[in-house]
Order: sequence, then C-alpha cells, then structure tokens
Amino acid sequence: MKLLAQGTINDYCQVIGHIGYPVYIIKGHHKIMMIDAGINLLAPKYYTDLTTILGNPQKLNYAAITHSHYDHIGAIPYLLKKIPGLTIVGAQRIQQLLRKQSVIDFMTHLSNIQKPLFEDLTGKEDVSLSSFDITLPVKDGDTIDLGDLTCVVYEVPGHTRDSLAYYFPQIKMLFPGEAVGVPQGMGGQEVQVEFLSSYDEYYHSLEKMASLEVKILCMAHGFVYTDDDVASFFGASIKATEQYKNLLLAYLDKVNGNIERAIELITLEEYDKKGTIHQERNAYISNLSAQVKLVAKDYQYIKG
Ligand SMILES: [Fe+2]
Repeated sequence: MKLLAQGTINDYCQVIGHIGYPVYIIKGHHKIMMIDAGINLLAPKYYTDLTTILGNPQKLNYAAITHSHYDHIGAIPYLLKKIPGLTIVGAQRIQQLLRKQSVIDFMTHLSNIQKPLFEDLTGKEDVSLSSFDITLPVKDGDTIDLGDLTCVVYEVPGHTRDSLAYYFPQIKMLFPGEAVGVPQGMGGQEVQVEFLSSYDEYYHSLEKMASLEVKILCMAHGFVYTDDDVASFFGASIKATEQYKNLLLAYLDKVNGNIERAIELITLEEYDKKGTIHQERNAYISNLSAQVKLVAKDYQYIKG
C-alpha cells in the first residue's frame, strides 16, 4: 500500500507536522524518538503536535537526524529551547558542518524561499536556524534501545556524506531519509533521484537498504509504503537511478562535456518544458549542478 505521510501509521508510529515535511514519532515502552526535524518554519507546529500526541513534550528523548539538509534539521534549534533534555542523534560530521556560518546562511536562504507557504504555521516565534551539537553521534551498526524497540543505525552515503537510515527490526520499519530518492508526481509514482555526494555510494546504499526486511518504508517527504509496495519502490528507485545517470551522460554528450551548458540545457528541457518536477527551481538547479559534476567526473568528462 501507499499511504500519505500523516496521522497514525501503527501502534508505535505517528506522523506530525506537514505531509511535505513529516516528522515521525516512534514510541517505545521506555523511550520516545522523533525521526528528522523538518523545516524550521514548521517548528512551532511540530511542538504543538508533540504536545497533542505525548501530552507532555518533555517525554521526547531523542531527535534522530537522517542528514544535514535544511529541511531535515530545521526544528532542532527551536525544539532544544523548548525541550532542553533532548538528545540529538546523527552523524558526527553534521556538527562540524553546522559550525560554518556560510552553511547556516545558505540553509536560511533556502528556507526563506518557502516562508510565504508556512506563515500561518510559523507564527511570530523565533524559528531561526543556528548551530547545535550532535549529542549522540552514531555510526553504522550502532543501536539505540527504546525498550521493546531497537533502533539500528545504517550509514547510507551518496545523497550526502552524512546520510543515515534508521531501522527498527522488531516492527520492520525503515526511515531512509532521502538516501532512497524522493517520490515524485501527485501519486508518488515516479522517483526523484537524489545522489548529491557520490553516484556509486548512493547506488550501493540503495542496494544495502533494499536487502533489509522492510514492511513499512517511511519516506522523508510525502509518503509511506507498506508490504509489496516497499520492494516496488526500491526496484523503481534503483532503475530510476541508473536511467538518470544515463540521461545526464546523454546531455553531456550533446554539449561535448561542457558542464555549464549541460546544466542549462537539462533545466530547460527537463524542468521548464516538462513542468512535472515539484521542486523549487533554485533547489533543483543546485542539486542538478552537483549531480552533473559528479557524473562528469566519474565518467571522465573532467580529465585529471
Ligand atoms: Fe536531502
């Protein structure tokens, strides 16, 4: 089945916030974890929803981050003010990255583009992005005990170098962040391929996650897949990844390996003319640039 990322998924998992930027709450018998922290503009909404489903938001023990993008860490600074005892779980590298003011500024810029969409939910509170510490740095194979549930950490680089997936074997649920791509189109029937730090690592991470026994796949944006649709999505994502690499190589061929011209041409043909990609244009170009450069390098359009 394919569900929207909202409401109650099962006895252990509820979704809060906004379907575009869902935050998953996992309730074990002893500890409670949220997975990802969405976009900063929605921080007050996440906090209100936490209050609704937990009664007292101070019961939240962990906030586990899948990767260092602005729309996955956004509410952490706000939530730390409200819930000072919150343990922040993620890759150690995220902390170094967030210490750079240029990174905070770029994240703020990307978030500001979406301000008009969420004004009502942001309200008047200070939701500004700022640096924070990863208080529980984790790596491949680490586990976090929630009582009757165990969270197992998988390193899944390729979307970013710090991408992590969180897997709960007792309930066969996987939270892959964007390491599996993002469902695209109104019904989520297509896959937006998301390798931004390495094509080969991204592909390998996809295979690694596809080999796990997963009954419920909770996507970073929009959807939750269950049962047979999990394997279908992994299959579609692996296929789309190969096809997308070949598409970028074909465009590079057309312009004799000129990276800037390839980016312009792809934006025109694939984004502007088709109009089927539901991503903000600047964010699309920024991601596309990284992907074209990676493919060009890996397939030797850049010599030396
Ligand atoms: Fe991302």
